[in-house]
Amino acid sequence: MNDGGTVWLPESASTLAPTIDSLFYFVYWASVIIFAGVVIAMLYLIWKYRRESHADRMKLVEESRLIEATWIVLPTILVLVVFVWGFRAYIKVGVAPPDAYEIRVTGKQWLWEFEYPDGTSTTGELHVPVDRPVKLVMSSTDVLHSFFVPAFRVKHDVLPNRYTSVWFEATKEGTYKALCTEYCGASHSQMTANVTVQDQGEFESWLKSAGIPSDASPVERGKILYEQQGCNTCHSLDGSEGTGPTWKGLYGHDAQLADGSTVTADANYIRQSILKPGSQIAKGYQNIMPASYGSLSERELTGLVAFIKKQSEKGRAELKAAGATSDSTAAAAADSISTGDEQQQAPSGPPGAMPSAEASNQ
Ligand code: CUA
Repeated sequence: MNDGGTVWLPESASTLAPTIDSLFYFVYWASVIIFAGVVIAMLYLIWKYRRESHADRMKLVEESRLIEATWIVLPTILVLVVFVWGFRAYIKVGVAPPDAYEIRVTGKQWLWEFEYPDGTSTTGELHVPVDRPVKLVMSSTDVLHSFFVPAFRVKHDVLPNRYTSVWFEATKEGTYKALCTEYCGASHSQMTANVTVQDQGEFESWLKSAGIPSDASPVERGKILYEQQGCNTCHSLDGSEGTGPTWKGLYGHDAQLADGSTVTADANYIRQSILKPGSQIAKGYQNIMPASYGSLSERELTGLVAFIKKQSEKGRAELKAAGATSDSTAAAAADSISTGDEQQQAPSGPPGAMPSAEASNQ
């Protein structure tokens, strides 16, 4: 297979690909040959028995044991070959080598989350070492998704309340696309992830640096989370329309709600919108934001609020007044104060358990 793939198959970059591809091409060429044979025979007979021809139409057709045996035996062999070949490939794809590197995958509307054995977690970005078997143990927090990496020839359903798994061994460094192939709601088509294959050394150093650095300021933290948590799939920063409201100029301004009321988009409004997305729907938008963000920690919430602040004039002024420059550690303290002191002690449990969220939006 050449590098960029063919008309029929995408580029191949795993040890499973040759097995799948050879089977595909066997079925493909068998179909081409049988199709050509049928069409050629048909055209010949059309020509032979056309109206003007003097072909002998009176001769009785006699049975031929040879032809009958051929059309029974040949297709049977063909089907058995495909079955055995396919079954072996199926087993190979289904059973991971015992020494495979295990990564947890969580599908949720509408993003992919990856958790590594050392606790690092990323969203929309999967890194794997080259030439090493990797096993993905997958589940979903909401509906049925399906994890598909065309270049690796792996695809498997991802279900709520159950683990499923696939494995692969990447053979080529590079970046590949992972897709969701089960219709799962409004942003299904944007539920993708980049799969980066690196050599072992690069992979390990990436793993060390991935996640949120402990010395990141709240705004920096928020910026990382904006991508890591997949906020960017629905909320733009440049004012453009998305599945959800843009964050540009949001903070500090009036927000129109679907029930006709108006609230000020302050830190508490933002906080509640993250933890209980269904409680205050912005006008013109649907109630489709996942409730799974209720599990964000206080630290993460503070970061997101600070980052959203940064997206409006008023918020920037506040950040500046509080002395929050992007590299100052004092920013953490200053920012915590502006999100509301009383909430710092709030547990980051289920979203329904937030004590002070309701009091905030008058
Ligand atoms: Cu998840 Cu489609």
